[in-house]
Amino acid sequence: MTQTAVVTGGGTGIGRAVAGRLARDGFAVTITGRRAEVLKETADDLGVQWVAFDAAEPDQVRGALADLPETVDVLVNNAGGNVRAGAGDDLAGIKAQWLANFEANVLTAVLVTEALTPRFAHGVRVITIGSIAGTRGGGDYGAAKGALVPWNLDLAQDVGKLGGTANVVAPGFVADTEFFGDALTEQRRERLVGQTLVGRPGVPDDIAEMVAHLASPGARHVTAQVLHVNGGALAGR
Ligand SMILES: NC(=O)c1ccc[n+]([C@@H]2O[C@H](COP(=O)([O-])OP(=O)(O)OC[C@H]3O[C@@H](n4cnc5c(N)ncnc54)[C@H](OP(=O)(O)O)[C@@H]3O)[C@@H](O)[C@H]2O)c1
Repeated sequence: MTQTAVVTGGGTGIGRAVAGRLARDGFAVTITGRRAEVLKETADDLGVQWVAFDAAEPDQVRGALADLPETVDVLVNNAGGNVRAGAGDDLAGIKAQWLANFEANVLTAVLVTEALTPRFAHGVRVITIGSIAGTRGGGDYGAAKGALVPWNLDLAQDVGKLGGTANVVAPGFVADTEFFGDALTEQRRERLVGQTLVGRPGVPDDIAEMVAHLASPGARHVTAQVLHVNGGALAGR
């Protein structure tokens, strides 16, 4: 029987590359995100299904269940990003900023995982996209990505009872996504590339390769780990 994969944030960037790779590997893939038009275009290109909902909103996650697969073999919690709340520098603004990144990066993964847990197949693979910032620092965004690590440890215990695995894939700088918006100057790009040992930016396919491995039969004994994919920008951790 064809195995299923759900990729949150699958309309663009890393999630799109993951969805394409898993589809080529034979999975029946469903991509999700908030923008229906982006999802539709990507889904048409890749030959996958799509469902539009905000993964940080409980009602929307619940409402999407009817359009998500009844059995889930692979869940890729990829939705997220470094959200700028723009709420000012006073304490109320700081609170809004931290909550915005917590919602975007932690709650998106937690809510979708909780909603789909009753549908997890035996041997399920849950792969959550963290960040280099979750280990080496990065303000409210880094703290949110870092919070995924202990959450993933609990999840690995739970899915282990199903013979499944749960891992965090932590990318370094990945070009060709919407992550940086207009904020990636040439100077910043050069600095980020300069931190790698391989002298190039990551590309979405670099991350998709690791995710595809974790979703494959050969990775059945890899669980409760953080897999860093960063060209050596963060060495030996
Ligand atoms: N690019 C990098 O250098 C880098 C490095 C480390 C980690 N990461 C992580 O990699 C993941 C993918 O990012 P990317 O670089 O591929 O950037 P991206 O192109 O901006 O992709 C993020 C995707 O997540 C979706 N998304 C965001 N918030 C959502 C929400 N509340 N509900 C549903 N979907 C949501 C977005 O679609 P909609 O806007 O349509 O919802 C978008 O498709 C993110 O978790 C990011 O933090 C990226």
